[in-house]
Amino acid sequence: MRIISLKTINSTNDFAKKLALNNSTTPLWVISEKQTSGRGRSGRQWYSQEGNLFTSGLYFLEIDIKSIGNMSFIAALALYDSLIEFLPNDLVKLKWPNDVLVDGKKISGILIETIPNPEGFFIVIGIGVNIKTKPSELNAACLMDYAENFVITPDKLLQSIVKAFDYYLEDYISHGFSKLRSQWLDKCIGLGKDIIARTANKDYEGIFRDLGSEGELLLEDIHGNIVPIFASEVFIKN
Ligand code: BTN
Repeated sequence: MRIISLKTINSTNDFAKKLALNNSTTPLWVISEKQTSGRGRSGRQWYSQEGNLFTSGLYFLEIDIKSIGNMSFIAALALYDSLIEFLPNDLVKLKWPNDVLVDGKKISGILIETIPNPEGFFIVIGIGVNIKTKPSELNAACLMDYAENFVITPDKLLQSIVKAFDYYLEDYISHGFSKLRSQWLDKCIGLGKDIIARTANKDYEGIFRDLGSEGELLLEDIHGNIVPIFASEVFIKN
């Protein structure tokens, strides 16, 4: 795998997007020791202190637009497999749409971006993992909180993520989403529970019943109707 290692960059996602716009050969991964403008979902900033992992994969895939939502499940499963190399399995859980939690706290973030092309899509898979430090103001975790005796470097973690990502991507290309879907459901939190799905303009309350074929959350409302949710924050009620 081609890996581009940088000392500092505004955002590895922005760097990968520029490569895509220049029709770079793919696949490749960019890793940077620091980011000066790390980006999170919904326009948020991503805490980007040195010692943590900041990486973006760039792949060119001949898939249809509906399959793009599936990419975040591939990334989340890859991240899960990499984290359980260092942490007990039962500490690590997946949360819809693409969070990986350790002990209920956010340890990583995934930001998928796409650049269309006449033959398919350039997909940027941005991944940040708190290894050494974490933002103090949030319910966040870092790997060192749990695995003090391991020396986990960003490069070592990236190698493990790339291997797992390619494994799940290959599986997805050959067999479609259904296997990934059940693997993700096995490792997630909130399934069968009361949740609030906060979308840009409305809160939906109900039971998290399933995942749809495009990775959408299927919520059963109080009338028993199944409501598909494509983008929201999820809060699991006790
Ligand atoms: C989230 O909000 O949960 C997603 C955070 C994604 C952060 C990563 S860090 C590497 C890549 N470059 C960015 O600017 N963002 C992603």
